[in-house]
Amino acid sequence: MAKSLVCIAVWFMVILEAQTLPIMARHPGRRSTQFFDFKVQVTRITKLCNTKDIVTINGMYPGPVVYAQEDDKVAVKVTNESPHNITIHWHGVRQKLSCWYDGPSYITQCPIQPGQSFTYEFTLVKQKGTLLWHAHSSWLRGTVYGAIVVYPKTGVSYPFKPPYEEHIIILGEYWLKDLVQLEHDVLSSGGSPPLADAFTINGSPGPNYNCSTNDTYKLDVIPGKTYLLRIINAALNMENFFAVANHNLTIVEADGEYTKPLTVNQIMLGPGQTINSLITTDQQIGRYSISMGPYMSAKNVSFQNISSIGYIQYSGFSSNMLPLISPLPTFNDTLTTKTVMDGLRSLGPIDVPREIDADLFITVGLNVEKCTSRTPSQNCKGVKGGVMAASMNNITFISPNISLLEAYYRKVNGYFTYDFPGVPLKNYDFVNQAPNNVPNDTQSIIGTRTKIIEYGSKVQIILQDTGTVTTENHPIHLHGYSFYVVGHGEGNYNPQNVSFNLVDPPYLNTIGVPVGGWAAIRFVADNPGAWFMHCHLEVHMSWGLSVVLIVKNGQGKQETLPRPPPNLPRCLIWSSASKYRLKDSEKSGEASPLSYSNRFSLACKFIS
Ligand code: C2O
Repeated sequence: MAKSLVCIAVWFMVILEAQTLPIMARHPGRRSTQFFDFKVQVTRITKLCNTKDIVTINGMYPGPVVYAQEDDKVAVKVTNESPHNITIHWHGVRQKLSCWYDGPSYITQCPIQPGQSFTYEFTLVKQKGTLLWHAHSSWLRGTVYGAIVVYPKTGVSYPFKPPYEEHIIILGEYWLKDLVQLEHDVLSSGGSPPLADAFTINGSPGPNYNCSTNDTYKLDVIPGKTYLLRIINAALNMENFFAVANHNLTIVEADGEYTKPLTVNQIMLGPGQTINSLITTDQQIGRYSISMGPYMSAKNVSFQNISSIGYIQYSGFSSNMLPLISPLPTFNDTLTTKTVMDGLRSLGPIDVPREIDADLFITVGLNVEKCTSRTPSQNCKGVKGGVMAASMNNITFISPNISLLEAYYRKVNGYFTYDFPGVPLKNYDFVNQAPNNVPNDTQSIIGTRTKIIEYGSKVQIILQDTGTVTTENHPIHLHGYSFYVVGHGEGNYNPQNVSFNLVDPPYLNTIGVPVGGWAAIRFVADNPGAWFMHCHLEVHMSWGLSVVLIVKNGQGKQETLPRPPPNLPRCLIWSSASKYRLKDSEKSGEASPLSYSNRFSLACKFIS
């Protein structure tokens, strides 16, 4: 007993230290470990005049900040005190040789069951900047998210003038409905999700929303200083614009990598994207709004259109001065998005692969499947009475009910296939037509298909948006890697008339593939494991807009994924799981009707 009390006290001190002392004096070059204790809890919260239970980490919304330094080891003990299965993903952490700790449920691990715990351990190899962590199970990341701030090594400064202060601005969406219920209801309806009840800045909706005047984020500043804003989009189903009234934003980092300074008025962040911006308090003493609003590039989709507002308030401002409101772009202003993408450049020096070993072409978009339900009015609320789905190369990804990485590692057959095609199965006018019997048949093929990539391959992926249902900007996120965005453009990709930037392209982990357009990414596949690549709009991921890239081991220990951690959460024992294996039609990749039940009756059943 006494021993465990000491133990708890030590944990507590470690957490306190880790959270209150962002930069610790340390010998340069010495790698140290940062410990964190994450308790997944159900927390009562009142917002928008409504009291409800949400899932949080340590009762905090947004959750605690993970502070570390470049090359640090991070250990986060996640204890699940909630009634839901959960995993945590360290979004943007490249997980060098630690794919087991990446976090997407049923891809690299089975979920942590209620009452269980799991310690994530990874090293921030050559990484610094702003990233985020979030739940990667069900739709729980709607409330279970927080920032990761990685400082440069001791003695190494930023490549820009040191800011007077740094602040985290984390954008989110708030739902009055329970998120697990919301996911269930949306997926069983076959239709699109309802609007979020509010947008939030650091968890606060701000004065545009009911009962929220006192629930407004405020940042006190003093005149004549430069501040670093670490802006993170943790929204569930929306891409968002962000602006500060009367103040420019100078982007100096995107997705945890430095960029050449780029000064703009407004930025767009898809969920999962992070941008560090400098702002200088060079305006008259006053109060200036920070706004976050929707970027919706799809047609005929409803969305929350009320912006969330916070304030930057100069010392000495008087509260009877009206705040200056920052105008946001209109909801479908693709130009603002393009302007930032066009201007974003790596600071360098960088090393973009020039020759390509694995050249993939992947379409991304939505589908509408035929209704096969006996209760269509309840289950087929998609476009024209169908069931909404999404796909890559017209293949709708069905989550397995075991850990895909573990099945691959242990060579257990039957849960997934290796036949994800490197190019679309049919060629057609991607932006203007549909894949089957052009232009009308919007059906996809369903399956749990993966793509094998040899260790060390220089990979290029052209991500091509489709207009099968509607064109839309899709924030495509790759786990385990950052990639160079060497090009992007409108319409169908045509290699004849593109020129790639191989000199200073931005190095990102999430790319907003332009609406009705394409993006080209390159990376070297030097990290073995099963890496999820998916649209970071949660509903699109649930609808199947994902794939798993399996990067094989190379030679020797430095190129080989270590064995799984002994405490990895367990799934069904393999043998008794056999009845949940893929049906033959799914294995062979033939089209079969997609319904809520065959999509989700695969839910994992565990041994206790
Ligand atoms: Cu931030 Cu797979 O996600």
